[in-house]
Amino acid sequence: MKGIILAGGRGTRLYPATVAVSKQLLPVYDKPMVYYPISTLMLAGVGEILVISTPEALPLFERLLGDGSAWGMRFAYAAQAAPNGLAEALLIGEDFLGGERCALALGDNIFHGAGLTGQLRRAAAFEEGAVIFAAEVDDPTSFGVVSFDAAGRAVEIVEKPKAPKSHWAVTGLYFYDGTASQKARRLQPSPRGELEITDLNRLYLEEGGLAVERLPRGTAWLDTGSFENLAAAGHFVQVMEQRQGLKIACPEEIAWRAGFIDDDHLAGLARQHPNEYGRYLTKLLRERPGGGVLGS
Ligand code: G1P
Repeated sequence: MKGIILAGGRGTRLYPATVAVSKQLLPVYDKPMVYYPISTLMLAGVGEILVISTPEALPLFERLLGDGSAWGMRFAYAAQAAPNGLAEALLIGEDFLGGERCALALGDNIFHGAGLTGQLRRAAAFEEGAVIFAAEVDDPTSFGVVSFDAAGRAVEIVEKPKAPKSHWAVTGLYFYDGTASQKARRLQPSPRGELEITDLNRLYLEEGGLAVERLPRGTAWLDTGSFENLAAAGHFVQVMEQRQGLKIACPEEIAWRAGFIDDDHLAGLARQHPNEYGRYLTKLLRERPGGGVLGS
């Protein structure tokens, strides 16, 4: 399965912080925001990712991430010329996908929780249709909202409803079968002028091909759309990492534990970071030799 990360948009809600820098390159505590969705895709078992961003920001992503070989991955890049909506990622990525199944992750969504890797892996094993993830939030009005019938089946998805029918927000992580690009071509721009990912998901729902995975209450889904949320996400990561001595969304660690890179390679990456981040990678080699198993 291939992956797409959509890291476009002008980030106007975070101006002036994002006038000169792409939002998804801002730090969330100790690493760039885009490391989080990359880690999510890596944990789901994706080894090849297309990074989509604005023409201006794309060279910066390339400078940060390279061709992916540092992490035993493959990264490709494509520009989204204008903010035409999330579903356009499936059109921009059509050739890259070549009709394969894909996992689409939004560049500003952060997931963390025990059991998440297992849930991602199980979801990634689907063959047909789509799998999306829903998370319970207090105020769902700024998200896609999914509602369920008495049997727990998803019946409706509405984008940013004024009167939401449930507290289940659709998160920015979507698994699609090989028909996603084809379906995206059938979409019409919404009143705000965008190809909506919610409309694509609705096509799958209408075909009876949409599975909605609900994240359990112990799994954190954080968004970074406002200054408050961005700061809160940073604090969350800081508290968790300092308490446990384990990093959240450290792609080098994930690659090493998955066996994408060996001990020598990890030691080399550690030397490139002459700070706490590098010392963490060295500590992994010292305290947890030989890599290990991915979390449950
Ligand atoms: C987008 C989607 C929305 C989803 C959200 C998750 O919203 O349109 O359905 O719930 O991402 O982060 P946007 O970030 O475009 O407001």
